[in-house]
Amino acid sequence: MAGEIIRSNQSGEVTMRLWRGDETGGEFVDYVMPAQEGEVVLDVIHRVQATAAPDLACRWNCKAGKCGSCSAEINGRPSLMCMTRMDTLPAGETVTVAPMRAFPILRDLVTDVSYNYEVAKRIPPLSPRPKTADEEEAGGYRMAQIDVERSQEFRKCIECFLCQDVCHVVRDHEENKTAYAGPRFFIRSAELEMHPLDTNDRRQLLQEDQGLGKCNITKCCTEVCPEHIKITDNAIIPLKERVVDAKYDPVAWLGRKIRNRSKRTAEEAAAEAPSSGPAAVLPASGAHGIPQPHPAGEPVLATASVGAGQSDAYSDAQAEATTEAGTDGLSSDDTTA
Ligand code: SF4
Ligand code: SF4
Ligand code: FES
Repeated sequence: MAGEIIRSNQSGEVTMRLWRGDETGGEFVDYVMPAQEGEVVLDVIHRVQATAAPDLACRWNCKAGKCGSCSAEINGRPSLMCMTRMDTLPAGETVTVAPMRAFPILRDLVTDVSYNYEVAKRIPPLSPRPKTADEEEAGGYRMAQIDVERSQEFRKCIECFLCQDVCHVVRDHEENKTAYAGPRFFIRSAELEMHPLDTNDRRQLLQEDQGLGKCNITKCCTEVCPEHIKITDNAIIPLKERVVDAKYDPVAWLGRKIRNRSKRTAEEAAAEAPSSGPAAVLPASGAHGIPQPHPAGEPVLATASVGAGQSDAYSDAQAEATTEAGTDGLSSDDTTA
């Protein structure tokens, strides 16, 4: 029934506990809003902005679960605000909304996710093999449908970075960011590695510069993915198998030689790529690694790392919110295997 109040805590109101602050610190602030049927968390955040806190910062675009902008931690669980219905949260209890903990806070619920773009620049893109004479004549490549379908799942990614946020390798260890790509970029590499036409080889890059070995398959990333991509089973585990094959399996090595399936290394791909623009690939081996998105000394990373450097108020309140949310919330302990 339109307009019906369903989240009644006797007074027909809902308490939203929102993180307010910037890279220098902040605190959770409670806003009591009327509860209305059919709303998602983002609706109530918008009502807070419209009525009680016009300066509240929150990032969103589509309100349809497709742009990946509205990622946050709702009752301690990394989620999209636009896809979390209010009536799925514990009735009558305070709803806590905090920014993603793995990234530096810019303001309120908005985080600086540029680390992810730095990682992306270091993954050699698709480099298709030359067409055969038949394909030239036909005017296009020929691929078996079964080969195309394998990586199709990974293209559903909306780059919400919730999987990056929940992954304990960076969530609890800021120092790992310079040597760890994270689940979103493992599926990007898997998508390219499994492409039947691709001629680049990213296995050494994954192992030596992007920290694939640090993933201990806890599956937390798969649990929070709003696109239900089976990140661990379908991307990370097959990538780990490929890395092991490349390094230790002489039969696989011989098979590739016989079938003449040698591929370009990440360095070779980077050397041949343009030096700027969308197709540019930054070298990642040796001393390069994944740099911090902001040079040391700039304010964002110097003080705003949520996991490692955020104010105690955030961590304490976040822990309290997670405890209140019970088993529905993923605490940082839950993410550490
Ligand atoms: S399985 Fe666990 S450790 Fe591996 S990428 Fe996913 S969240 Fe991180
Ligand atoms: S893999 Fe899933 S959780 Fe990770 S960025 Fe893509 S859509 Fe988001
Ligand atoms: S606003 Fe686009 S995914 Fe939520």
